Amino acid sequence: MQFEYDNPTRVIFGAGTLARLGELTRPHGQRALVVTGGGSVKRSGLFERATKSLGDAGITVFECAGIEPNPRLSSVKRGAAIARDNGCDVIVALGGGSTMDASKAIAAAVFHDGDPWDMIYHGQPHPHVPTRALPLIAVPTLAATGSEMNSGAVISNEETTEKSFMRADCLYPRVALLDPELTLGVPRDQTAYGVCDLITHVTESYFNGVDDTPLQDRFAEGVILTALEYGPRAIANGADLEARAQIQWAATLALNGWVNVGTNGGYPVHMIEHTVSAYHDITHAAGLAIINPAWMRFAARHRPARFVQFAQRVFGLPAQGPDDLAAALAGIDRFEAFLKSIGCPTRFSELGIGDALIETYARDTVRIINDGKGNLPGRPPMSEADIVAVLT
Ligand code: NZQ
Ligand code: ZN
Repeated sequence: MQFEYDNPTRVIFGAGTLARLGELTRPHGQRALVVTGGGSVKRSGLFERATKSLGDAGITVFECAGIEPNPRLSSVKRGAAIARDNGCDVIVALGGGSTMDASKAIAAAVFHDGDPWDMIYHGQPHPHVPTRALPLIAVPTLAATGSEMNSGAVISNEETTEKSFMRADCLYPRVALLDPELTLGVPRDQTAYGVCDLITHVTESYFNGVDDTPLQDRFAEGVILTALEYGPRAIANGADLEARAQIQWAATLALNGWVNVGTNGGYPVHMIEHTVSAYHDITHAAGLAIINPAWMRFAARHRPARFVQFAQRVFGLPAQGPDDLAAALAGIDRFEAFLKSIGCPTRFSELGIGDALIETYARDTVRIINDGKGNLPGRPPMSEADIVAVLT
């Protein structure tokens, strides 16, 4: 095992920490662009509390509201223009993964001459990886993506029907302010999707990564078991602060690089979901809930041992040996049943999506994952036919 690990994001975790937003932002800038989504933070009063804390610290506030789920390139351009026009020197993202991702792209777009879409990954070569961005303070209001402590941002281009990511060291938030009280108002469906998203972040590397990463396997299983325990509690009772706190920390850990360090795992399920999402604008983890079990059934046939381990350690199922395909598939069935039990869809038909574009999704996905440069080393490498089979 060989790796390098560096995550520069400072984490402040705990109920009530929103009051410290101003104090934590002040060292990074004095003219803050506060980026928000479609209005939940206005309705809940979080926006007012956040801007009061910033104002009390002597920070001038500008606003970019209206970031949509599956954030659009046009919003990134709009946000960058507001930041430039007002001389903003720090960005505060107050919202879900979409708001945080748009904020990262805005932070980089401020310094990019040309179309911000250049900075998005389209396979190799990738000549415009961002090298400079405004400092970002991430204040998630939804436990899901882990964007608050990673260097990625996923953006949709409504003109070209593409959804892909940018990733760069300069995009790590300087501070992740994790106040689980901010997530108390997340509706049941979004809570469930968040649980599905965070589990999928660790299953990707768990099933795709190299062998012989026993500690990372245990980290991943710990994240999944935490989600299986506290996710349903948060869904049953949104006001359960302890459950909210546990899934929030699990979501952050699931994609801050710690769980998958050294595994070299790729993200094939995510890459397939992103392409489907580009055409249908579906909720990210609703797509994952459908694709992940199907992908697992495909992958288990190529690599049963990992799936047997998952079935045993996560769901306590008995198995005859590492090649026991029946046990591997039984674990996947249990996982899919869990997703259903928390209200996630597990078939595209539930979202009103048919099979007319399956070959198109497969073509678009392969363009991203099979670039031959190992940026996203899917294991086993997937062909268009494989992706069609999974989606079918
Ligand atoms: O927009 P508002 O009005 O804020 O409402 C949002 C939105 O409708 C609502 N919401 C958020 N916090 C709330 C709340 N409603 C009530 N109370 C609160 N406290 O939830 C809805 C979904 O929000 P969104 O930000 O879209 O959800 P999520 O956090 O799941 O982010 C999804 C986006 O992140 C990308 C996805 O592809 C998708 O575009 N991802 C980003 C990743 C990353 N940067 O590392 C990794 C992920 O795998 C993912 O691809
Ligand atoms: Zn995800």
